[in-house]
Amino acid sequence: MKIIRTYSLLIIVLLSFENSRAQQLKNMKKNPEIEQKIQALLTRMTIEEKVGQMNQYNGFWDVTGPAPEGGSAEKKYEHLRKGWVGSMLTVRGVEQVKAVQKIAVEDTRLGIPLIIGFDVIHGYKTLSPIPLAEAASWDLNAIKKSAEMAAAEASASGINWTFGPMVDISRDARWGRSMEGAGEDPFLGSKIAVARVQGFQGDNLSSPNTIAACAKHFAAYGFSESGKEYNTVDIGTSTLHNIVLPPFKAAVDAGVRTLMNSFNELNGVPATGNVYLQRDILKGKWGFNGFVISDWASLNEMITWGHAKNKREAARLAALAGSDMDMEGYVYIEELAQLVKDGVIKEAILDDAVARILRIKFELGLFDDPYKYCDENREKEIIGSKKVHEAVLDMAKKSIVLLKNQNKILPLKKEGQKIALIGALASDKNSPLGSWRIAAENNTAVSVLEGMQQYKGNELLFEKGPDFFIGESNFLQEVKINTTDKSGIKEAIETAKKADVVVMVLGENGFQSGEGRSRTELDLPAIQQELLEEVYKVNPNIVLVLNNGRPLSINWADKHIPAIVEAWHLGTETGNAVAQVLYGDYNPSGKLPMTFPRNVGQVPIYYNYKNTGRPTNKDNNVFWSHYSDVEKTPLYPFGYGLSYTTFEYSDIKLSETSFKIGDDVNVSVTLKNTGKVTGKEVVQLYIRDLYASVTRPVKELKGFELVELKPNESKTIHFTLNKETLGFYNNIGDYVIESGEFEVFVGGSSETTNKAEFNLVD
Ligand code: NOJ
Repeated sequence: MKIIRTYSLLIIVLLSFENSRAQQLKNMKKNPEIEQKIQALLTRMTIEEKVGQMNQYNGFWDVTGPAPEGGSAEKKYEHLRKGWVGSMLTVRGVEQVKAVQKIAVEDTRLGIPLIIGFDVIHGYKTLSPIPLAEAASWDLNAIKKSAEMAAAEASASGINWTFGPMVDISRDARWGRSMEGAGEDPFLGSKIAVARVQGFQGDNLSSPNTIAACAKHFAAYGFSESGKEYNTVDIGTSTLHNIVLPPFKAAVDAGVRTLMNSFNELNGVPATGNVYLQRDILKGKWGFNGFVISDWASLNEMITWGHAKNKREAARLAALAGSDMDMEGYVYIEELAQLVKDGVIKEAILDDAVARILRIKFELGLFDDPYKYCDENREKEIIGSKKVHEAVLDMAKKSIVLLKNQNKILPLKKEGQKIALIGALASDKNSPLGSWRIAAENNTAVSVLEGMQQYKGNELLFEKGPDFFIGESNFLQEVKINTTDKSGIKEAIETAKKADVVVMVLGENGFQSGEGRSRTELDLPAIQQELLEEVYKVNPNIVLVLNNGRPLSINWADKHIPAIVEAWHLGTETGNAVAQVLYGDYNPSGKLPMTFPRNVGQVPIYYNYKNTGRPTNKDNNVFWSHYSDVEKTPLYPFGYGLSYTTFEYSDIKLSETSFKIGDDVNVSVTLKNTGKVTGKEVVQLYIRDLYASVTRPVKELKGFELVELKPNESKTIHFTLNKETLGFYNNIGDYVIESGEFEVFVGGSSETTNKAEFNLVD
């Protein structure tokens, strides 16, 4: 520990992070044998072959971005044969992977195998819930398992590298890619990033059922201005270091082998050409020894941004900034060799990038056996297997959040009831798969209708009602919304009249969130609000099941509808998971990983905001921080979610009231299940650092534990706050802990008021 400056009464301490650094060094340790082989190979490679390793091409079938200039299948094959391609993406299936790998290994001078990348975002062929939904489980073991299953399926299909996890923090529900991350909080986001990296990569990267992970998008893509996709990002150092970077750092410390940079510019410099992000922080300060892949043609986009004048300049800027591989941009392959020959770029830059790429290929075992992920029998046995489906169902149940349950309308009675099931999304087998599902077959989700049909004790009356969306939706086009055709509302009303309870499945189409899917409204799209209100008039006994990829503003529903279940886009096993929760065979325990606003005007809204100089004062609103037309609080806060049982918190205790900087602060709380059924609760611990040289948020999550209790059972939960959780990054990006007063809160959501206080002293 080193004192760097005295700040009136506060001592700022720069921490050495001995433990995490030791862990990091362990993860960064290079294997001397592999390093020798890399060096030996580098000495045999021509400049063109080195550039080839830094070149990635998309496969010949599916595209996940606009086709860049200069590409054709013929050219790709020609370059493959010359050894000018280091990687391919979106090639899938043992047969196809084998075919391209064979060219790389058998037809080229050096026979360097390809690394095969794919967007395995929430499952491969059998889909888990969208990542935001998984985050709502706060269940790190389940999330890790889900990534493990995705890796098992993808690797059985010949893939050895995923472009996941996306660890971008997102505070803006308008941004469509909120669905792909773990929500708004850097602490939860970091834990989930680690779980996912461990799930994908396992303990041994060379095992045939693990794949290299890729933390993306480096960095700050989630802060795209006004939630508009691909937009500029202009944020200060405090937000960058305290909010954006922690999940990336956690992923790197956990040994993630690759990172992807991002489409956005950060404070005027596109991430792809950003020396500060990639060289100074990632490869410098953090000591990352894996490689960085660009995003799809993001080198080319530096030209459109107005940063590089042409491809040659884009290649120069990206290579100098540490972008090691060019995804489908044709920039490195066209420009880099000449830049080296002209003396503009040193060959050492190429050597460093190529060494990083070869390192991961060696670690994956591709040099020992380039076809190790190409086993037809494994492909048949693992993809879609019972084991994968079971894990995906388990994850789906754990991802559901119960938002409201008045009069105990849920769980539904299992017998003697007439249940009306209403809404086009209830029978939809496609939408629940979300938008990242390149390998999944269309229409393969279990629908809510199919799930509920398995409960035979009630009479189920299904009425689709009006269509919400027009035509087939897909990855490459905008979803078309029905705002006029109301046919079907009448039938829905008639069905609702006959029922004891109405279950309505409403929300977003699976393709309304994801890449390129920003929205300026967060209400129920299409004519769904009208349908809901019309049905409510004849039967208010409604359970609203939401399908969505982002927080929605559902004020009317919150006010009138007795039960609301947040069921996101839950993947292949959607209907089974929803039915089990509705019927009480699974007691929901999810908690929101992102704040739900009252309206879009509140966005960005997040729990770890700063206090302002004039926080709300109920007695005199006018001159205090608030809105004149809507409450300043969210509709549902971060960390919120109900259960079929109830919990009581008591006895929040600290081991002392004063601690020396560097000591552990022990906190305990007693949790009791005060309801009638067994249930799980996510116990959350937040701190507030009351006065600091850089102002701190009103609350910061610093610990959580998922606890299961039987009725009447109590348990004391212990948390430890330490030097890794009590400090923050100052405005020059250094981690500091300051002495002073702290509050600690423990409870079942970010709005908890159970608190204790302590002092940190020098
Ligand atoms: C663009 C996306 O931003 C990125 O996340 C994805 O991995 C690539 N396309 C490849 O599909």
